[in-house]
Amino acid sequence: MSNFLKDYAGKKILITGHTGFKGSWLSRILVLAGAQVYGLALKADANSLFSIIDNLGMKESAILDIRDRGEVENYFKTHNFDGIFHLAAQPLVRRSYKEPIETFETNVMGTAHILNAVVNNNSAAWIVVITTDKVYRNVEKLEGYSEGEALGGKDPYSASKAATEMVVSAWQTIAAGLDPRITISSARAGNVIGGGDNAQDRLIPDLIRGFHSNSKTVIRNPESIRPWQHVLDPLNGYLYMGSALMAGRTISPAYNFGPGDESKLTVKEMADYACRQWEGAKGIDIAIDKTAVHESELLWLSSHLATVELGWSNRFEALEAIRWTTDWEKAAMKTSPLEALDMQIDSFYGVSR
Ligand SMILES: NC(=O)c1ccc[n+]([C@@H]2O[C@H](COP(=O)([O-])OP(=O)(O)OC[C@H]3O[C@@H](n4cnc5c(N)ncnc54)[C@H](O)[C@@H]3O)[C@@H](O)[C@H]2O)c1
Repeated sequence: MSNFLKDYAGKKILITGHTGFKGSWLSRILVLAGAQVYGLALKADANSLFSIIDNLGMKESAILDIRDRGEVENYFKTHNFDGIFHLAAQPLVRRSYKEPIETFETNVMGTAHILNAVVNNNSAAWIVVITTDKVYRNVEKLEGYSEGEALGGKDPYSASKAATEMVVSAWQTIAAGLDPRITISSARAGNVIGGGDNAQDRLIPDLIRGFHSNSKTVIRNPESIRPWQHVLDPLNGYLYMGSALMAGRTISPAYNFGPGDESKLTVKEMADYACRQWEGAKGIDIAIDKTAVHESELLWLSSHLATVELGWSNRFEALEAIRWTTDWEKAAMKTSPLEALDMQIDSFYGVSR
């Protein structure tokens, strides 16, 4: 394991949202690093990475709804951690239009319940709260947004995550008054891709489902440019934050973790490239959806602060991220999803098996 991951060996770490896509990858990285990993989330979907693998090697998996303040309070009265990565959220823009209240309840009040319970019960020394690039007020500029820029969000998901940032800010102030040793910081990254994502309405999972079912994939916004990033890159950023905190360093209230400029590709370019990686792929159909709900246009992040203060940099450009994703699917079919996960984590962190 790469040097900084050794900081996690023996540490007791909670991951909220461990049954989700990013949470499963993060849980497994920390298990392989020798941490005692705990999880708190809703029950996993039957075809999610977490369910397929069955056991990521975690110490405990608690099924709990973070909208229930009493349940969250009870949990943190009986659990203490070295650190927490808070990922649990309703993360889909289109679903947030159908379920705006539930999205706000989970993303905003759920985060408030967790931060309040952790701070009041002194349940952890640090919390890294995962939000998104969509927290910035989109002024359609081409240069990257930095951490100090105005927050905003037109669609319910983006607005709920900008509000999550406000919750973080409020509990940073509360914690500073109660116990200045507790650090709360947020991490902002964009669209991620990687093996085992089964979310609806996301390009790469849709394509992979098409590959497996031998059918064409319908894409909606062929010319939209997205900041494509492999899931390991932002997770690595979150882990840098935790590692700095465990070393007793002071970190900033928020960090961006975005891909480099070479990853600015359109949806169609990404889809075509993915199809070329899959023998026998049936390709794509383009269906412009004139009734589509509003989704933010390109939001590009400047990750200068993370590079200067944490030493983080993005490793994979977009096409490499796609190759790792299709390679993961092929490896999972040949060996098993757990083997595929472990092989890519080891390879990312430079460990030979
Ligand atoms: N995947 C992306 O492209 C992306 C991009 C930017 C930010 N993010 C953020 O990263 C985090 C993880 O995203 P993901 O893609 O892994 O999502 P996911 O949908 O795969 O997982 C979400 C997790 O949150 C849990 N959760 C949802 N509602 C909950 C509730 N009420 N109580 C308890 N747990 C609940 C789910 O059980 C699941 O474990 C989210 O905070 C998301 O907003 C994701």
